[in-house]
Amino acid sequence: MDNARGFRLRKSLLFLFVLLASCDSSSSKKQIKNLYYDPRLFFDLDSEVNRVPCAIQGKIPSWLSGTLLRNGPAKFHVGDQQVSYFDGLAMLHAFDFSSDQVLYTNRFIRSEQYYIMMDKKSVNFSGFSQDPCPKLFKEQTRFIPQDMKGIENADVSIQEYADQMVALTEVPLPVLFDTGTLDTLGALHYNDTIPQGQWESAHPLHDPAAGESVNYFVRFSEKCSYVIWRMADHQSARQVIAEIPVQLPAYMHSFALTERYVVLVEFPFVVNPLDLMLNKKAFILNYKWIPDRGTHFYVVERSTGKVAATIKGDPFFAFHHVNAFDQGDKIFIDVVTYLNPDLIESIAVRSTPPMKVEKSQITKMERFTIDISAQKLSRETIFPQILEMPRVAANRTASEYRYCYAHKPLTLQEQAGLHKIDVATKTSLSWAEDGCVPGEPIFVPRPRAEDEDDGAVLSLVLDYTNKRSFLLILDAKKFTEIARAEAPHAIPIGIHGYWKGI
Ligand code: CO
Repeated sequence: MDNARGFRLRKSLLFLFVLLASCDSSSSKKQIKNLYYDPRLFFDLDSEVNRVPCAIQGKIPSWLSGTLLRNGPAKFHVGDQQVSYFDGLAMLHAFDFSSDQVLYTNRFIRSEQYYIMMDKKSVNFSGFSQDPCPKLFKEQTRFIPQDMKGIENADVSIQEYADQMVALTEVPLPVLFDTGTLDTLGALHYNDTIPQGQWESAHPLHDPAAGESVNYFVRFSEKCSYVIWRMADHQSARQVIAEIPVQLPAYMHSFALTERYVVLVEFPFVVNPLDLMLNKKAFILNYKWIPDRGTHFYVVERSTGKVAATIKGDPFFAFHHVNAFDQGDKIFIDVVTYLNPDLIESIAVRSTPPMKVEKSQITKMERFTIDISAQKLSRETIFPQILEMPRVAANRTASEYRYCYAHKPLTLQEQAGLHKIDVATKTSLSWAEDGCVPGEPIFVPRPRAEDEDDGAVLSLVLDYTNKRSFLLILDAKKFTEIARAEAPHAIPIGIHGYWKGI
């Protein structure tokens, strides 16, 4: 960004701040009353424990050595005030398999939001779907320790940057934490001069073959852009791959990475940046679903940053890409698709639980094939059942793969569970237990494994009937239980996690 542009952006942000300062905070109370969540799955977990041995059923594989790290919101209330699911306080959980026991630790991230909710006993802050108006109060609070100022409520995912663990949410500065104690260490400041955007995906992709992580952020200003960047392993300096100008930026929770390309799949769920400044609504509620725009696939060459193709397809929405790869002139992009983004509003602002499987909850796994030379797009269903939180073996990211592991959400018709999907044969295996909701399944390979599915799948399960949680360990090939490690308390349903091997 040149200086003039940087100045314009700062001016825009100043304008935004002035507007927020004049905003009426009573509107936040109205919104808070109408929030929806399922109290069986989303509840406050106030206790923090350190290296508590878990009771084990079954036999933990002797080769499983490392730590399963999980992230997700775990506190939603202060007195009679409540925040939405997306804006609950970030809590990290660790299941440490490095000794002959499984040791469990959990700790809130010491974010500004944490100090506001825990010390100031207030929900006056701006979040993903939290009313931004009371932001001014955040600026005035005196309860935030100096070294935690600017720390975000990073409650979405976990990644490894520059040989350090970070928690991420959809704002730019990653939050560093200690893998052993889960203590918050501060913000990761990149060792580069790239002017940061205001929104960034919490789904960076690590390409094991190239030895780099790739992600993108959105720069909101009079001239908005998607900025795609890469960062080599063990480094904290990013390089810009491409900057794509955009008039109405879309909400794209994740993106596709192949050996040669980055593909931004731009759903027709877009925001007028002026609305972010003028609307006085929570961030995500400014986005509008405009299906007539269709979905645009921006195909960017990783080596040159050139946009090799922009292809328009039918409208759909997604949070998560499963994986992607290229072969010759073709790019294959696997996505968990929704008909529209209505689920966001359901979670953020609805006052009553869904009484049936709503259209907004129905997903399937689809493969989009782009033929670059013919500039054509085709679409096929790989897995027709409801799924979310898809994961593949980390060493298959951005390359051809066969297996996807996914969570099956709870609906009133069906119990929750886990899927193992064979993308090649379009067949699947499943795991489920009455009264239990498993979270995102994470594959851990057996050391020196040759088969893609030789290893274990770990999933943190909430047994909401008995109000307890356990870490489920499945044999990844057969998709049957090997063991479970009981957590010392029930853990609300979280979001994403990370396997940190030794
Ligand atoms: Co996600």
